[in-house]
Amino acid sequence: MNSLRRLTASAVVLSTLFSTPCCAQYPDMVLGSYLDPATGANFTTWTAKPDSSGSGGVTFGVVLPADAAETDATEYIGYLSCASTSADRTGWCGIAHGGHMIQGLLLVAWPHKGQVLTSFRWATDYFMPGVYQGNSTITQISSSVNDTGYELIYRCENCFAWEDGEGYLGSMKSSSGELGFGYAQAADGPEDAGCPAGITLQYHTQGYSTWVGAVDGLTAPDYSALADGYRRSLCRVRGVKPQV
Ligand code: HEM
Ligand SMILES: *[C@@H]1O[C@H](CO)[C@@H](O)[C@H](O)[C@H]1NC(C)=O
Ligand SMILES: *[C@@H]1O[C@H](CO)[C@@H](O)[C@H](O)[C@H]1NC(C)=O
Ligand SMILES: *[C@@H]1O[C@H](CO)[C@@H](O)[C@H](O)[C@H]1NC(C)=O
Repeated sequence: MNSLRRLTASAVVLSTLFSTPCCAQYPDMVLGSYLDPATGANFTTWTAKPDSSGSGGVTFGVVLPADAAETDATEYIGYLSCASTSADRTGWCGIAHGGHMIQGLLLVAWPHKGQVLTSFRWATDYFMPGVYQGNSTITQISSSVNDTGYELIYRCENCFAWEDGEGYLGSMKSSSGELGFGYAQAADGPEDAGCPAGITLQYHTQGYSTWVGAVDGLTAPDYSALADGYRRSLCRVRGVKPQV
């Protein structure tokens, strides 16, 4: 009896994990676009509405290399814009590459002292994810923070294939025509916010979802120029000299 109940319980877990999109209960993401005036990048975006109390809200956008539909992309340029609940309750938001929290590359972003900080994370269960040990890198192209939200445009290299340091390998292939993404958002910012490798996050109280994007509309003919253009954009945005 007990073992039967256990069996039924794990069958439910399995069918949830592998359920088809038809039955998932995730909120819909609203499709749109965002033209970044500084770089000229035109992102296809997905927007999550604020939560039931009117707080939060996330827009995530992607631009892919020109040949991503034929050759598996290893990188993308991302746009992340997240609403804060208030000037004091600034929160965190994150993107799940692959569309699931567990065993996919997680990128977490949050504002701290006028800058947007980030951390790559890896989850093996639905708990606070540990630091990701793989080779993904992020380069900030521009960022902004104010009392109502924070925004980041970034280049994410080696972000479509993942390893957990213990032999697990995962990836998503742009040549398949579709890419899976997920988002999550919390009202409260991380503990130890000034130290990306040492943060502690609370659960994503303001929402989460997962969706699939068609690669077709995401490629940019001028991707290489956009990816290299961040030095120029840094000069414009922050008035600093480019690093060579
Ligand atoms: C303290 C940290 C975290 C906890 C305790 C946590 C917990 C959970 C739980 C329990 C679920 C399943 C909810 C359900 O199906 O009803 C979930 C789903 C999800 N989480 Fe997290 N999470 C955390 C951090 C993160 C982070 C940092 C990200 C992204 C950067 C993330 C992305 C997602 C996504 C996309 C889903 C929905 C898809 C899926 O179930 O895999 N989570 N999380
Ligand atoms: C940006 O993309 C959107 C959606 O595809 C399109 O409607 C818009 O005309 C594009 N803008 C520019 C400047 O290319
Ligand atoms: C705050 O930043 C967001 C973008 O992150 C922008 O849309 C909004 O206009 C800004 N608000 C103010 C008061 O500057
Ligand atoms: C980065 O790691 C992934 C996953 O192990 C691997 O497929 C990829 O070849 C690596 N890329 C580089 C440039 O080392």
